[in-house]
Amino acid sequence: MGVTVVVGGFFGDEGKGKITGYLANHDKPDIIARGGVGPNAGHTIYHNGKKFGLSQIPCGFVYPNAKLYLGAGVLVNPDTFLKEVAETGTDGRIFVDNNCTVIMPEHIERDKCANSCKIGTTGTGCGPANEDRVKRIAPLAKDEPKLKGYVADVALEVNKAIKAGKKVILEGSQGMGLSLYQGTYPYVTTKDTTASAFCTDVGIGPKAVDDVIVIFKAYTTRVGEGPFPTEFSEEETKKRGWQEYGTVTGRPRRSGEFDYELAKRAVMINSATQLCITCLDKRFEGCEGAKTFDDLPEDAKAFIKGIEARLEVPVTLISIGPNEEDVVDLR
Ligand code: GTP
Ligand code: IMP
Ligand code: MG
Repeated sequence: MGVTVVVGGFFGDEGKGKITGYLANHDKPDIIARGGVGPNAGHTIYHNGKKFGLSQIPCGFVYPNAKLYLGAGVLVNPDTFLKEVAETGTDGRIFVDNNCTVIMPEHIERDKCANSCKIGTTGTGCGPANEDRVKRIAPLAKDEPKLKGYVADVALEVNKAIKAGKKVILEGSQGMGLSLYQGTYPYVTTKDTTASAFCTDVGIGPKAVDDVIVIFKAYTTRVGEGPFPTEFSEEETKKRGWQEYGTVTGRPRRSGEFDYELAKRAVMINSATQLCITCLDKRFEGCEGAKTFDDLPEDAKAFIKGIEARLEVPVTLISIGPNEEDVVDLR
């Protein structure tokens, strides 16, 4: 492992936060850098018996020896950032890039309606802030008084670490289906959300990447509007116990069957080298406490084998519960 990118294969909320936390604890990276859009993301992780719902800080914070960075492509809401720094006790080892766009109250105001009503945005100001970035009028982190002491040249720090042979994890957010270019336009977020985009966000080139772990839930979920070919009715979703609520907005997530077509495309576009399947426990009974592949129930094993056969990439990580250690690691 040199540089590993963690990316969502469906519509976000696949469990990237939890898996990055697990990888951080086990692989002990020197750096965990967050790519992706900004505080529209909600990463959940249960660490030391406490639930964290983070939208700015990488969930890799659970490994205390890693430096944490937010790449220049990530939008920063200073108040949310500082609140999460205090919550996670990461002061002194977390930095944002000088050139991150700052989300202002005005951006949040502008996210309340207009076109956002049709899309069903998270209302966190991300779209309008990216709009201003494109217009070249956005405020930057280096000029934001609230972020004084937290800014750095993230691209330089990460590339220096790579050159020195250190381990780096890029923690992405959202998922390919929400990509401005590769997703279900116009029902998408306001940036690309594939592995290449997370590299750009942080400032590393594609040749620096060793592994791309694409994460899928054992079923598909989507928050907000937009096409969802394998969607179930609300009734069916409830019957299966797949009802979920968004971390950021509290909105119910729509649920449906594992979307193999979308998954194949996510494997292709992200150059997946490994796959991770989360929430297997919500699909199959008897996964609890499994440590090895053979500990899993037969139907769950067949499901994983089927995914590997159809997507032609090995499943190396299987998540069987929300806690950071609920993982069957096949690497
Ligand atoms: P975005 O960056 O917003 O795309 O989110 P994310 O990919 O980090 O996922 P998020 O935390 O929003 O949603 C995943 C949900 O599933 C959370 O509530 C997790 O606690 C939960 N979760 C993750 N893995 C598992 C698992 O294996 N089993 C169960 N039961 N829950 C899980
Ligand atoms: P925006 O990114 O807030 O502009 O929202 C655009 C669309 O992307 C909406 O459908 C949101 O629900 C969705 N979205 C943005 N970020 C996330 C995420 O982290 N998880 C799930 N959906 C997201
Ligand atoms: Mg989420």
